[in-house]
Amino acid sequence: MSILTLDAGDDVRVTEHLYERVKRVIPAAEWLGHVPAIARINELKNERNAVVLAHNYQTPEIFHCVADFVGDSLALARMAAQSDASIIVMAGVHFMAETAKLLNPDKTVLIPDVKAGCSLASSITGADVRQLREAYPGVPVVTYVNTSAEVKAEADICCTSGNAVKIVESLNSRRVIFLPDEYLASYVSKQTDVEIIAWDGRCEVHERFSPDEIRQYRDDNSGVVVVAHPECPPDVLAEADFTGSTAQMIGFVKESRPEKVLMLTECSMSDNVAAEVGDVEFVRPCNLCPHMKRITLGKILQSLRTLEPAVEIPDDLAARARISVERMLAVG
Ligand code: 13P
Ligand code: SF4
Repeated sequence: MSILTLDAGDDVRVTEHLYERVKRVIPAAEWLGHVPAIARINELKNERNAVVLAHNYQTPEIFHCVADFVGDSLALARMAAQSDASIIVMAGVHFMAETAKLLNPDKTVLIPDVKAGCSLASSITGADVRQLREAYPGVPVVTYVNTSAEVKAEADICCTSGNAVKIVESLNSRRVIFLPDEYLASYVSKQTDVEIIAWDGRCEVHERFSPDEIRQYRDDNSGVVVVAHPECPPDVLAEADFTGSTAQMIGFVKESRPEKVLMLTECSMSDNVAAEVGDVEFVRPCNLCPHMKRITLGKILQSLRTLEPAVEIPDDLAARARISVERMLAVG
């Protein structure tokens, strides 16, 4: 007998359809611990006309059970731009909440834990960008969305891992300053004739994968298909069968349905896909993003109750940063 039928409390009943989505990856006993928070969050969202936007790295109970929209950074930015909710809760990291606020200056944008940062975003400041502009006069600046609003305000345009090459080429410039991920910059430079001037930022999650580790996993798992995020080092990407943004990686697995797959990215993403596709075996390793993992059901609930912490960006800074994000969305 399912443990769910042993305790037929109201919360369990109203969330039963949600458990169907995650039962492959969340044991029933663990699920019961999530049920009260999921039920309250979904009630409060209705009462407050709020939406939860969740990045692909959020845990399955958030991603599949309380999120209204899920996706990669680009999709979340697009959804934030289109949302007609009064309140946006960003189940992601701080730069994602800032992007949502830039696109919705009159709405309340909540980030359930303000310490949910990003090693790429903290690798560069607005002053660094101004110095680069002095060193390379006239060269346009592209910043990855994984940056603060202060850095976006100094840039000409933003990009995500899903549209980086297209954005770089849209500038019709022989040279482009591309910040701050040196590995994404290297990946882009291999796909375009535009000369890329890079910064030395790195993602603390993806830089930990190594080519030896991938070769070992291939030896141990015959036929495994390796998909990677472009924040991985170039020698790791050289071992991969497919490289793309988190959404592109998910799309690849759902469409090609490999028997075994190794996703070189944050751990929860494999769980979220595994919840949906029962016919694919997910081979680990994966790495946890400590920043993404700061967001929990409890903090989302608290945030919806108190309407804090809300993201605030000074108007003049926001006006300049918004231009970079809107230019990106206009290119696609
Ligand atoms: P995506 O835009 O591919 O979702 O990447 C965001 C991110 O933080 C990856 O580490
Ligand atoms: Fe930043 Fe890396 Fe975490 Fe993505 S996975 S939020 S790039 S630290």
